[in-house]
Amino acid sequence: MWEFHQQKPDDSADNSDGLYDEEFKGHRDAKPHGSSSVGMDVAFPGFEHVYGIPEHADSLALRSTAGGEPYRLYNLDVFEYELNNPMALYGSVPLVYAHSANNTAGAFWHNPSETWVDVQSSKSSGGGLSALLTSFVKSASPSEALTETHWMSESGVIDLFLLLSDTPLGAFRQYASLTGTTPLPPIFSIAYHQCRWNYNDETDVLEVDRNFDENDIPYDVIWLDIEHTDGKRYFTWDSNKFPNPQGMLDKLNAKGRQLVTVVDPHIKRDDNWALYQRVRDGDIAVKSHKDDGLYDGWCWPGSSVWPDFIDPAVRKWWANEFKDYVAAYTWNDMGEPSVFNGPEVTMHKDAKHHNGWEHREVHNLYGALVHQASWDGQLVKSPQRRPFVLTRAFFAGSQRTAAVWTGDNAANWDHLKASVPMVLSLSITGITFSGADVGGFFGNTDPELLVRWYQAGSLQPFFRAHAHLDTRRREPWLLDAQYKEAIRSAILLRYTLLPYLYTQFYLSARDGRPVMAPLWVYYPKDEATMDDQHLLGPDLLFKPVTEAGATSLSVYLPKDSIWYRHDTWEGFGGGQTVSLSVSLTTMSLFYRAGGIVARRDRPRRSSAAMRRDPVTLVVLLGGRDRRASGHLYLDDGYSLEHKTSSAYLHCRFNYADGSLTNTLVHSSPAYADADRIKVERLIFVGVRTRPKSVVLPDGGGRVHLHGAVPAAGDPPAQPARCQGLDCPPDGRLRQRPRRTVAACG
Ligand code: NOJ
Repeated sequence: MWEFHQQKPDDSADNSDGLYDEEFKGHRDAKPHGSSSVGMDVAFPGFEHVYGIPEHADSLALRSTAGGEPYRLYNLDVFEYELNNPMALYGSVPLVYAHSANNTAGAFWHNPSETWVDVQSSKSSGGGLSALLTSFVKSASPSEALTETHWMSESGVIDLFLLLSDTPLGAFRQYASLTGTTPLPPIFSIAYHQCRWNYNDETDVLEVDRNFDENDIPYDVIWLDIEHTDGKRYFTWDSNKFPNPQGMLDKLNAKGRQLVTVVDPHIKRDDNWALYQRVRDGDIAVKSHKDDGLYDGWCWPGSSVWPDFIDPAVRKWWANEFKDYVAAYTWNDMGEPSVFNGPEVTMHKDAKHHNGWEHREVHNLYGALVHQASWDGQLVKSPQRRPFVLTRAFFAGSQRTAAVWTGDNAANWDHLKASVPMVLSLSITGITFSGADVGGFFGNTDPELLVRWYQAGSLQPFFRAHAHLDTRRREPWLLDAQYKEAIRSAILLRYTLLPYLYTQFYLSARDGRPVMAPLWVYYPKDEATMDDQHLLGPDLLFKPVTEAGATSLSVYLPKDSIWYRHDTWEGFGGGQTVSLSVSLTTMSLFYRAGGIVARRDRPRRSSAAMRRDPVTLVVLLGGRDRRASGHLYLDDGYSLEHKTSSAYLHCRFNYADGSLTNTLVHSSPAYADADRIKVERLIFVGVRTRPKSVVLPDGGGRVHLHGAVPAAGDPPAQPARCQGLDCPPDGRLRQRPRRTVAACG
């Protein structure tokens, strides 16, 4: 976790004569230690594209900033942010990756003060660090391409890490070794979340909950925004609206559903409120430079103070505040920190933190320390349970203790489109668990946009609908039947894919690979740099529809691969753009030949209700070798026992020479006895002949499928449209649903 060296910042420079004072829109920055800045250039010879440095509402491949503003990293609460813009947003990860066919290189600029990054591509070659990187790539990259990045931070020291690998996954692993990975989330948190500002009271919450059931739409989590509190005093409840929060929580939990409540880091100045008294009297808040008194600013509750999360003791105090709080999981908003009357709606840079640190030095880290302390708070409250925290403000390493959402987007098509590169940029910089507000936060959405947004969001790592206080209600059942059905099927698709997604999160927790990835992560030699489509793990490829009235969609399939449409099993060879006709319900999701994807196909009300359901394995074959493999990870979905007692199951499925087999990578009696997983259905896609055998170990024995593979008389499937590849002539071979046929583990 982040810790500061217990030393005061260098105060050899001073500004007692006021020479360095700065005035910005009526805000004074006293700069008590004078002016400072650090900078360095990092050049990537042989690389045409660089990626990363979220958060910006911009393309995935960073643009050249020559002649314009550099990309800015300064965590800010931006009202109605602009698209295609290098302006700073809510969070920062000062990390770029350069990628070419044979190499991936990264530069991690470990500095949490305000930072600017210029990006420039040219044909010349540089010296210094360029030379170092040149020697790394010289044999592999004869290209003349050069991308230069210029890093400038207002404060701090140069603490630069260079990551050199021959593959993106290798570079991600190196970055993970520096900043950590996303721990395996509780499974409910990768299911569907229903949020709005605000669900008004207990009746409203239970009504929304009931409507999901009545409309046969699964959901796992309902969220409460700031209005649930007693006057924006976090950790409290408005007792008129929510007379019995524990009772409400119990009712939701009884259905296997969860509740998330917002806890912001600003504390209302109310001398009659015990929590404020603890902050006031405990010397635990950020102080003002002017008079060393409590730093005072405006946020939702009016006049507020900010706990000094830089101080480890304050983080501990905050974590303990969760002990008696009647709530389950946490949403940390406004952690930039957002100060309505501060410079650029944030804290003054000369505000004072623990041990003499100026806010300027730690600004981009403040929100990350808030969510880290909230995560700890959940462990204080429920030590056996996996925490879940969502944050808007973040820094490098935030992945260890929070999921991230992209803040206040707008209900329009351009924002829907922007959500893909934004989440991809987060995904490749370690923030694996991220998503955008489905539907768009500001403004009313029309039904078609809402459907398309659900479809896009259903295949992003964090899947939550959210809306501003002033918007019209937009829960799925309020729409006409065709739109409601389209949303329902997008959500159902997400639920069927939970075993696969959960497995990807498990693999990501081990080595930092992104769950949602640009094509070049798994196809490093393919030069196409798409940011309007993405992979989910190696085996699923998706392009959301982001145009109003779309009737067709072009999807690029990477070279040296074969893909099958999820709805027709029509096969396509890679290295081409295919054109699909699309209707309102079309989701252009493809499965990769060579993969084995685990699903749960029985629709239920929540992920918890699916926990003991058998799985369907989709075995995708194509190409010359007709082999496939895939992983399945399972555990109880919510506890920490997968860590403390290795209580989980990890199977690897292989299909080769006409046989499907299963290797147990890990199994544990602690898990397997209670939750033995059954395979109820096998779908073979792209086979010419009936598989010879299906052999899955069951307590050491061999279990064969008896007639479970497609019979000879099965209807012929659509012809495949592969080009120049050894593609299946029938494209489809699918068995009828049947009962359990084999056991795994
Ligand atoms: C700003 C957040 O970005 C938004 O999601 C939330 O609804 C409002 N604050 C109110 O808490």
